[in-house]
This record gives sequence, C-alpha cells and structure tokens, in this order.
Amino acid sequence: MEVSPAQLPKDTSEIVDFVVARIPEQDRTILRSDLDGESARSLRAYVSYQRRDMLAGVSLVRTASNLPDGAAYVMVCTRADLGGRGLGSALFAAVLSDLGEHVTRLVTCVLEDDHRSMSVARHWGFQEMQSSVTTSVDLFGARVPDPIAGVTFEECADLVFDDEEAVGTMLLASQTNPEFDLGLVLELSSLRETPAPGQRPIAVLTRVGGRPAALSFAVADGDQMHVVYTGVDPGSRGRRLALFTKQALHAHARELGIRTALTENEESNTGIRRVNDQLGYARHSSWSWMMRPRP
Ligand SMILES: CC(C)(COP(=O)(O)OP(=O)(O)OC[C@H]1O[C@@H](n2cnc3c(N)ncnc32)[C@H](O)[C@@H]1OP(=O)(O)O)[C@@H](O)C(=O)NCCC(=O)NCCS
Repeated sequence: MEVSPAQLPKDTSEIVDFVVARIPEQDRTILRSDLDGESARSLRAYVSYQRRDMLAGVSLVRTASNLPDGAAYVMVCTRADLGGRGLGSALFAAVLSDLGEHVTRLVTCVLEDDHRSMSVARHWGFQEMQSSVTTSVDLFGARVPDPIAGVTFEECADLVFDDEEAVGTMLLASQTNPEFDLGLVLELSSLRETPAPGQRPIAVLTRVGGRPAALSFAVADGDQMHVVYTGVDPGSRGRRLALFTKQALHAHARELGIRTALTENEESNTGIRRVNDQLGYARHSSWSWMMRPRP
C-alpha cells in the first residue's frame, strides 16, 4: 500500500473519523486541532489507501508554539485488521523523511491499555516520559459558583484583556504543573491558536480584587469540550479558586449547549485531579507521553 501526503484541510474529517474508529478513546477535539495547519508552525500528514478509497492508515508530524522547543508531535495509526504488515513503519518512515531542521526530538502519545501499540512505539525508539489521565464529566447539572466577596468570574473566549500583561504573567506563574517541566509552556497567544476552524474557545478568568488570579481555558467541538488548562496564581491558592473557576467555565459552557467536558492531567498532579474529582470527573482513559531524540 502506497503512502502519500494527505490534503489538508480537505482530508481532515476523514482522518479524524478514521483515527477515532481505531481508537475510540481519542478525543476528536484535540485531534482536529492537531490537524489544523493554521495554528501549527509546520504540519504534514500522510495517508495510505487500501484499494482506491478505503483509508488503511494515517500519520502526522506537527510543530507548534505550545510544544517544547525542538519537539515535533508524531502520530501513526493503522486500521486494526491491517496491523503487523509493515504499514505503520511505512507511515512512520514518511514522517521521518521530512522533519524540519529545527526538530531535535519527537513526541507521541499512546493509549496505555493498548499494549501492542506501546511495544511498537518503544520499538521505534520512544520512551515513556509521563503518564496522563483523561477524565470526563457530564455538564447537565453545572451551576455558577455562589458569589464570593471580591471575586469575579469573567467569560473571556477571545483571551483579550485590558491588562493583558498581568494576565499573561499570572498564566505563566500558575504553571507549576509537571508538563511545564517538560517544556510545555502555555502563553495566551498559544491558547488563542488552539481551536481549529469550526471549533470555539471557551474561557473564564477569575479576578480577586480586580487582579487576575486564575484562568480556565477549553476548546469546544460540537457538544463536547476539552479543558486544555486550569491554573491559579500561586499567591491566590488555598481558596478553592480552581474549583470555582472550573464551575464557572462549566456553567457557561452548559449555557452554550456543551454537554460533556474532557480533560487530561498528569497522573501525579494531585491538586487538579482532586478538583476534578470534586466536580464529578470520572476516569475515561490513560495515556503515555513518549519521547525520542530525532533519528
Ligand atoms: C502502532 C501502530 C501504528 C502499528 O501499526 P502496524 O501497521 O501494526 O505497524 P507495522 O506492522 O509496520 O509494525 C511496526 C513496527 O513494530 C514492530 N512490531 C510489531 N509488533 C511489535 C511488538 N509487539 N513489539 C515490538 N515491536 C513490534 C514491527 O516489526 C515493525 O517494525 P519494523 O518496521 O522495524 O519491522 C498501530 O498498532 C496503531 O494504529 N495503533 C494505534 C495508534 C498508536 O498508538 N500509535 C502509536 C504512536 S504514534
């Protein structure tokens, strides 16, 4: 089976449907965003067809401002009934054939329960870096938090603020999460770039005494959203602001017709995982973030 470059955005929906059929746990909101060339520094995708029109496998390689320096995100996916025939390696080879000069390492993400895919990724030289847990919650009962003196919740989908510098500084200071240590640094500009065409951002900024104190940002796709980030300024911690900010985000999303929220957190990040438990998030899937140096 021949491997050829995909035509994006024309092939995007077909690729998303294909990957979700192969890996039902895959969040299509994130995948659609991964396939959005507008928000990437570079993006290449490859396809392989069985006969003329039946997708057999896909791969992609992407660099973007919200990935660590020098890192390219890689994904390879083949149809389950065609596994073990060399197609995955052919699609991976296509990705490797055209890496930009600035790429020094490759990052991928594999469903932990998929032992065969984990073995193949290790065979391709990837090593486990972090374990991530995806959880989800039904937003049916989402309600705005009770008023708290001096605290306001501001809906801010476009992430444009009069005091943008102060919000940016708070966002940076709030990133005490394990992903930050791997170089996954979020800025307002990279969050703004995350939604793909057809998706929309949903965000809430919490202020204490008028000053930025916490931010929760999500990308919505249809009636589902993925909460990309929630962070509280270290100086405002211990007041349950993460919980209240996410409650405000959920309630706003519910008003907009979103029914389900998913989020992904590093396994050892007990703070946010506890908040998610309190909000009713339940385990959805576990993922291994893996990395290897550029071949
Ligand atoms: C991982 C995946 C892409 C492999 O696809 P595939 O079509 O079965 O791949 P191939 O038949 O080309 O095998 C890939 C390589 O792994 C090797 N391999 C196969 N099974 C293996 C196993 N159990 N342990 C170690 N290596 C294995 C093959 O020998 C081949 O290596 P080679 O080219 O050096 O000979 C496929 O299972 C999949 O779509 N998984 C879901 C998505 C995913 O998790 N992707 C991985 C991260 S990018």
